[in-house]
Amino acid sequence: MAPRPEHKKEACRVRLLLIGDIVGKPGRHIVARTLAGLIQSEGLDLVVANAENAAGGSGLTPANYQELIAAGVDCITLGDHIYRRREIVSILENRPNIVKPANFPPSSPGKEFAIVRARNGVDVAVVSLLGRVFMRPVDCPWTAADRVLAALPAELKVVLVDFHAEATSDKQLMGRYLDGRVSAVLGTHTHVPTADERILPKGTAFQCDVGMTGPYESILGRRVDRVLESTITFNPTHFEVATEDVRLLASVVDVDTDTGRATAIRRICVTQADVERLASLVAPPKRNVL
Ligand SMILES: [Fe+2]
Ligand SMILES: [Fe+2]
Repeated sequence: MAPRPEHKKEACRVRLLLIGDIVGKPGRHIVARTLAGLIQSEGLDLVVANAENAAGGSGLTPANYQELIAAGVDCITLGDHIYRRREIVSILENRPNIVKPANFPPSSPGKEFAIVRARNGVDVAVVSLLGRVFMRPVDCPWTAADRVLAALPAELKVVLVDFHAEATSDKQLMGRYLDGRVSAVLGTHTHVPTADERILPKGTAFQCDVGMTGPYESILGRRVDRVLESTITFNPTHFEVATEDVRLLASVVDVDTDTGRATAIRRICVTQADVERLASLVAPPKRNVL
């Protein structure tokens, strides 16, 4: 009997998730509690997470890396806070599933791209780039994108780009620059999700920012009172990570593995109301300690 058309379509699809900037312990915990359930309920083949704020709100430690990988994250991207915790350097240099922004200087620790195998056997390239508008000075992201794409194996069709940038105009430009050349250009860094997810004309999924995974009763993840006081009085305070209204924000992209083109993109928001249901779907992962 001939396979039903929808079966044929399923066989050549890979479903990717990008989790927005994970902030501190609240962000790490909601990932650990819900990601296994999310992978099952959403049928995810590969999970990428931006973890530049995972360690107390800034940087990533080896223990945080292990915790996220144990939770089901397949590949980690970072951003301007990448080296805030120096101890992550050996992980960046030695593990195959974590990348630095490809437009950092060549001498900086870390790899320019990762190729990770999805649960359905499809190889996916993960690339991180840093914007230059209102950001620290870095090398040109456009030429870095060209260099990395030229270095990927010709047979590899599925490419996910995390564009870690401040300005929505910069992000739209990168989406258009890479339209038809990568499967998705998804933004991170602002910690604020945008409602502009779409498939660009040549088949690249795009969204300016997938948002933050952490406490939303906050200013970008930090305690409101501390940030307000420091901003208004110039009195220095410690920008402590907030604790309330913790959410996991991410976007799901379906990609046709024959063409590398995206066929769908949608936003996901896991709130506290969803945590117990998702946690009950799959036994929580054992936490690894290095
Ligand atoms: Fe950032
Ligand atoms: Fe961030």
